[in-house]
Amino acid sequence: MKLTIVGTGYVGLVTGACFAEMGNDVLCVDLDPGKIERLRQGELPIFEPGLKEIVLRNAAEGRLHFTTDIQEGVRFGTMQFIAVGTPPGEDGSADMQHVLTAARAIGRHMSDYKLVIDKSTVPVGTADAVQAEIAKALAERGMSKVPFSVVSNPEFLKEGAAVEDFMRPDRIIVGVDDDRAALLMRALYAPFQRQRDKLVLMDVRSAELTKYAANAMLATRISFMNEMALLAEKLGADIEQVRRGIGSDARIGPQFLYPGCGYGGSCFPKDVKALLSSAAGVGEPLHVLQAVERANDRQKHVLVDRVVNRFGADLSGMRFAVWGLAFKPETDDVREAPSLVVVRELAARGARIVAHDPEAMDRAREALGELPGLEYAPSPMAALEGSDALIVVTEWKVYRVPDFTRMATVLRQPVVIDGRNLYEPAMMRECGLEYHPLGRPAVA
Ligand code: UGA
Repeated sequence: MKLTIVGTGYVGLVTGACFAEMGNDVLCVDLDPGKIERLRQGELPIFEPGLKEIVLRNAAEGRLHFTTDIQEGVRFGTMQFIAVGTPPGEDGSADMQHVLTAARAIGRHMSDYKLVIDKSTVPVGTADAVQAEIAKALAERGMSKVPFSVVSNPEFLKEGAAVEDFMRPDRIIVGVDDDRAALLMRALYAPFQRQRDKLVLMDVRSAELTKYAANAMLATRISFMNEMALLAEKLGADIEQVRRGIGSDARIGPQFLYPGCGYGGSCFPKDVKALLSSAAGVGEPLHVLQAVERANDRQKHVLVDRVVNRFGADLSGMRFAVWGLAFKPETDDVREAPSLVVVRELAARGARIVAHDPEAMDRAREALGELPGLEYAPSPMAALEGSDALIVVTEWKVYRVPDFTRMATVLRQPVVIDGRNLYEPAMMRECGLEYHPLGRPAVA
């Protein structure tokens, strides 16, 4: 099949590359000439395990192309994916201008049937707006008879596992209101569901809401566990034991129950805000989700609160090692990352910070700018040398089994404040480390 993907951000690029890998002819369109040129040279704008290989192979084999020419893009594919960004506007609602611009371009340049597929995370009602925008552009050209369909096909990939999630999805949500579109979507996804039928067909508005409801539910689980962790600490319980206890109830399940120093990334914070804004717009306050957001804002400050409890409010003259800047492992993305809050607050209190991350140091440098007292270390151990304490923010594999004995001697004070519960308290005690996990008894 011939597919056009409008937008080569995270979702667009993974979608284009993975559909090419399945044998489709794919043309990816982006307005940014620099990005398209780099992609043509085989340079990827993001770090994502396995993606580069797929892009290079399919480009070399002639199934994956890149262009800045939207007209060429619209003419190329029978299927037109809209995968452009929907950044939060000032009021938290999703900014739809790029989606509507893409829709207008499709209406301006199409001359035969097109299946237009919303892949971006978009508020309920967007498919109708896309439909109206295309119909308007066609009418202006006197071509109102040219047929087209608009479907919603939200993406559920996780950063760091995007290729795997795309290639082996749990489910494929397709919101579709006409038979021709349903048939094409079935054919497109047939190779992904050889073992079982993963296609969940529904009406368009329900598909749009499914995407937000899924992310809101996951964010709710995390905020709930984060609060339980804080409570467990106060009550002298251990959240890791509680997590295993409740996760073994099949109705709850073990996944996504890990307490941490707050959820971040480009999806949960933005989608929670956008859903709250949509709900407020129709007079339906979402009390639970409002609390989820407040709890997460608080959680991002928990690590620095611990530093202040331990070392006092004035941190001038002190130096802290920070392990992990990405909002989660296996990505270089620092958007809404708890690390940004931690680093800024430590710097504001006069501390020096030596940060390490296996992939995200460049992105962190851009996001944080020049902060007085902030430097970056070439290795995890180098960050510890001469530091008063270690703060673990992201659970990268390289931080999981460090040389604890060396850690205890290299740190000026053997204090570890852990935002991800990576270490066994008994082992920390054994190695002479003072250990402050989340929701578990500290090792003094
Ligand atoms: C999330 C969803 O998991 C995907 O299903 C969805 O497609 C995607 O958003 C999206 O809307 O595009 P992602 O943001 O890549 O994916 O990352 P997650 O792995 O879900 O992690 C999000 C945040 O939750 C991270 O900050 C992570 O540290 C935190 N988290 C996750 C926890 O604190 N505890 C957990 O148990 C799980």
